[in-house]
Amino acid sequence: MGHKVALIRGDGIGPEIADATTIVIKAAGADINWIEAHAGKAAADTFGTPLPEETLATIEEVKVALKAPLATPIGAGYRSINVALRKHFEMYANVRPVKSVPGVLTPFNDVDMVLIRENTEGAYIGIEHDIPPKGSAAESIILITRHACLRIARYAFEYAVKHGREEVTIVHKANILKATSGLFLNICKEVAADYPQIKSRDLIVDNTAMQMVKNPQQFDVVVTTNLFGDILSDLGAGLIGGLGLTAASNIGDRVSMFEAVHGTAPDIAGKGIANPTAFMLSAVQMLKHLGENAAADKMQNAIYTVLAKGDVITGDLGGNANTSQFTEAICNAIG
Ligand SMILES: NC(=O)c1ccc[n+]([C@@H]2O[C@H](COP(=O)([O-])OP(=O)(O)OC[C@H]3O[C@@H](n4cnc5c(N)ncnc54)[C@H](O)[C@@H]3O)[C@@H](O)[C@H]2O)c1
Repeated sequence: MGHKVALIRGDGIGPEIADATTIVIKAAGADINWIEAHAGKAAADTFGTPLPEETLATIEEVKVALKAPLATPIGAGYRSINVALRKHFEMYANVRPVKSVPGVLTPFNDVDMVLIRENTEGAYIGIEHDIPPKGSAAESIILITRHACLRIARYAFEYAVKHGREEVTIVHKANILKATSGLFLNICKEVAADYPQIKSRDLIVDNTAMQMVKNPQQFDVVVTTNLFGDILSDLGAGLIGGLGLTAASNIGDRVSMFEAVHGTAPDIAGKGIANPTAFMLSAVQMLKHLGENAAADKMQNAIYTVLAKGDVITGDLGGNANTSQFTEAICNAIG
């Protein structure tokens, strides 16, 4: 019967990387019963809505989703479906490992940090409007609540304990955003006091960005608010070789959703050249979440083996393999 997982194949390069990933998961021996669900532009075109009720019901029922990137119109049109899904299912923790990948040449080869981003509030609650006359000004609300800060701070410190991590860095902008970022910082410090075995420190977000570029090895676990986490996680992706390599989990109490950090890559969509590594590594996290540890390890080792060997890699990493060739090489490495 297998684990039921909702599969959202998404927009742009989404279907290409989703197909590649399901092939590798099968080769790794995990028994997954994929339940296809629709969202994003593809859903809007077919069903008249970017987030059909049926998709929400499927995810609610099966509790785990593997979601390829979804297109969000810029400046107008429907709001981000990624944000809507995270909000609807209260997936409050966005967990983004930033770990050097063997064989991928970057200025640093020993980065190993985990960015934990609050996923439900902050600057992304979508309460903003124009101030008339249109085009002259606009304003937006940043919402920070004690409940959400406690929840994400506890998640970060618990994560550190469970994964043998030593330090949590609390990233904020409390010097300027005294009320909102100040509240986040104070609550994180309160929670830190409950975890004397984990070191903690706080760092202003702009300094964090600079420190991540200069000396990323100093970071272990980082916890921050929604907007800062979004930006720093892409910086992290850049540190380990790009968006094509970075995975993310969205964790809630009822439902968890696994996705790549990158978007739909419209510039290369349909060409069969997308790098599916990030989505595959998200699937590795999903397999671990489902308790399919043997398949997860096989899959991750095979991905790293192929990347380290370096003769069958995609264009974004300097190679000339297409998505299918890369996928086949991983299946062969699984054996
Ligand atoms: N989680 C998500 O669903 C998600 C995340 C970010 C952006 N988006 C959406 O994606 C669309 C495009 O956004 P964008 O252009 O800012 O970011 P993007 O991540 O799609 O692309 C940025 C650059 O990285 C490259 N790239 C990204 N993923 C790649 C991969 N797997 N292999 C090779 N190259 C890859 C692209 O070709 C492009 O040059 C927008 O509609 C945006 O809203 C969705």
